[in-house]
Amino acid sequence: MAGLATPMALRVAVTLGLPDRLLGCDASIDELAVELNAAPVALDLLLDHLATLGIVERTSTGYRTTKYGANLCADAGNGLTNLLHLNTAGGRAELAFVELAHSITTGQAAYPRRYEQDFWADLAEYPHLRESFDEQMTHRFREQIPQIVAGFDWSRFSTIVDVGGGQGTLLAAILTVHPRVHGHLVDLKPTAAEARRTFSAHDLDERTQVTARSFFDPLPAGAEAYLLVDILHDWDDEHAHRILSRCVEAAHPVGRVLVIEPVGGLRSQSEFNLAMLVMFGGRERRIDEFRALASSHGLVLDTVTDLTDQRCLLEFRLAADQ
Ligand SMILES: C[S@@+](CC[C@H](N)C(=O)[O-])C[C@H]1O[C@@H](n2cnc3c(N)ncnc32)[C@H](O)[C@@H]1O
Repeated sequence: MAGLATPMALRVAVTLGLPDRLLGCDASIDELAVELNAAPVALDLLLDHLATLGIVERTSTGYRTTKYGANLCADAGNGLTNLLHLNTAGGRAELAFVELAHSITTGQAAYPRRYEQDFWADLAEYPHLRESFDEQMTHRFREQIPQIVAGFDWSRFSTIVDVGGGQGTLLAAILTVHPRVHGHLVDLKPTAAEARRTFSAHDLDERTQVTARSFFDPLPAGAEAYLLVDILHDWDDEHAHRILSRCVEAAHPVGRVLVIEPVGGLRSQSEFNLAMLVMFGGRERRIDEFRALASSHGLVLDTVTDLTDQRCLLEFRLAADQ
């Protein structure tokens, strides 16, 4: 469990593109070393370990990727290369685990300690990180979206504002099933532009609006529902309060706030929970923590719906005296 050699060997293999390069076509160490500008002896050590893991196998002239190792190819369709590549948002962020001790002693994110600015600032500065993160977010939901759409009565709302809605695939799926519902997605500029494309591709231009804006600024007002999907767990309490306060301000006086997340103790995984801490200084909050967070904004928890094996939906209403 504790060895770091294997997780790093897999990441370096993916970053060098070895599973793709050696799929169906073996190559010798010397050839590969020239192609990848790598040190031959060191590359041999890496491939030897990858062979031990069953990712590659030896041939009479070198190495080739096994059927199992093909899971690490870019087009395997499992999103793994995006998570493991050392120059993608997810792959880089995982390396912040090296600073876990800092997070445990301070309660703060490890990411800025390793990279000198926070995760979101890195995404804003480096478009390839933003792109890979948006892709990762869209991919992770592919199997969950039908359950999320089916598991809750979205038709109750005439307009849903998806706050930090990413590339818009969930909102598009909801609107496709519910032709009377309108959607308004708010996200940062490059991601908002992707969401616009998603809605157009689903023929939803007439029922959707997209606003490129920070959710720390005022949100589109007067909608019936403000949806936060995997947003609050990315933030410490101070920032989560600021986001909720923007939702409440916009939802006033009767809008609902809907939070979809892996709720702590119900649908959370301990490993992922630590990842939220290390990356963002966030966590999967428990129901009582959500209640406490929301109550200072006059929000009352109405219902908790089990949506998938990973996520619940918490529906909050505004207390009558707000
Ligand atoms: C974990 S992703 C979730 C995306 C989407 N809700 C989903 O579940 O697929 C967090 C989202 O928050 C957005 N985000 C981060 N900081 C933001 C900010 N200050 N204002 C608006 N959106 C922000 C990111 O761009 C990203 O799309």
